[in-house]
Amino acid sequence: MSNPFKFGSAVTGDQYYDRTIDGDKLYSIIAGGSSNVVLYAPRRYGKTSLVKKVIEKWADDGFTCLYFDMMKIDSIESFCEKYASAVYAAESATDKIIRLIGSCLSGLRPKFTVDESGKPTVELDFTARRFSGDDLENILDLPEKVAGGKRTFVIIFDEFQEIASWSGGIPLEGVFRGCIQHHDSVRYVFLGSKTHMLQRMFSDHARPFYNSARILHLDKPPVEESRRFVADRFASVEITIGKETIDKVLELSQNIPYYVQALSSEIYETVLARGGKKVVPEDVDTAAMSLVDMKREQYEIILEELSGAQRRLLSALAISPTDCFDEAYRQRFGLGQSSTVHGALLKLIAKGYCERLNAVYFVGDPFFARYLTSASYEIHKSE
Ligand SMILES: Nc1ncnc2c1ncn2[C@@H]1O[C@H](COP(=O)(O)OP(=O)(O)O)[C@@H](O)[C@H]1O
Ligand SMILES: [Mg+2]
Repeated sequence: MSNPFKFGSAVTGDQYYDRTIDGDKLYSIIAGGSSNVVLYAPRRYGKTSLVKKVIEKWADDGFTCLYFDMMKIDSIESFCEKYASAVYAAESATDKIIRLIGSCLSGLRPKFTVDESGKPTVELDFTARRFSGDDLENILDLPEKVAGGKRTFVIIFDEFQEIASWSGGIPLEGVFRGCIQHHDSVRYVFLGSKTHMLQRMFSDHARPFYNSARILHLDKPPVEESRRFVADRFASVEITIGKETIDKVLELSQNIPYYVQALSSEIYETVLARGGKKVVPEDVDTAAMSLVDMKREQYEIILEELSGAQRRLLSALAISPTDCFDEAYRQRFGLGQSSTVHGALLKLIAKGYCERLNAVYFVGDPFFARYLTSASYEIHKSE
């Protein structure tokens, strides 16, 4: 029997639990065509897994779905090449799409090939001439043109906020928004983990994407669903676990899907090592400790690279997540001036160590928080 828990990349099948309410909402807004959607949540809450599940339903309805991960892209040029390739592959490299790409991107001398894995790919020649905003528009318009009013695309941009980090002298957000607002045959879903960036992009009235999509936020799964999931997965390998022990798992992992799976996976190994058939609370402690141990070195490296103010703030948030850095809070943790805290906070968020949800700031990784509040960190700090 193998480990019934999986973490790291998006999960499907029986590694996935329902999140029916969130899934249904996302499904129906897009299927009904009332608006585009922004779905945001901190990293590891299960956005990608959720959307991949919902894609199956849209596909059953006859939508042509295209999932596109912005995290793998670092420039406009590479976006254009990969996006043209994605549309080309989604259209099974037919003559029609070859003609279309050939005509609207002729200046970039498109070459149609297959990559090492056999996937149809378009290569563009950016040395042919200066790359312009018009090229980007032509590429973004491809799905609309392909659909030709006869069918509908659903395009998912994962980690969409990354476009803000590409340079290249083209006002990207404006071009994106300007283009896609004319698309009648394409519906868009924007996912993002850097919630503050995404929120600002869509809620700041001075930004091009303002008010252009329905904003949904993905919370943690209902506790009852998480409980059932943990019990069922252990049961699938003939291991039992009592309700109180499950609650301990959910408390330590803060019911964040990734950490629920990571901790449960470690518990499974612990129980297996002692030849048990039932998870006891001590197994949960042992597994939590070994997760912290495994990441100790990584945590230490992270801390070494932070400034004193950032380190103090992160430790404070590990002990006491907050929505208000008032005088009392700053004094309690020796954080100094309000402006110092603000600067440190922005850095911690940008680095992905600190998250914000419902206005509360907290350490995203509950095991990092555990490390920061542990005795061993105190000793390390005072050395
Ligand atoms: N619905 C789910 N059921 C079970 N595990 C999940 C679910 N959603 C996420 N996970 C766990 O969380 C991990 C991260 O999920 P992912 O979808 O990549 O999150 P995000 O896109 O929000 O960062 C997955 O590898 C899996 O272990
Ligand atoms: Mg993701």
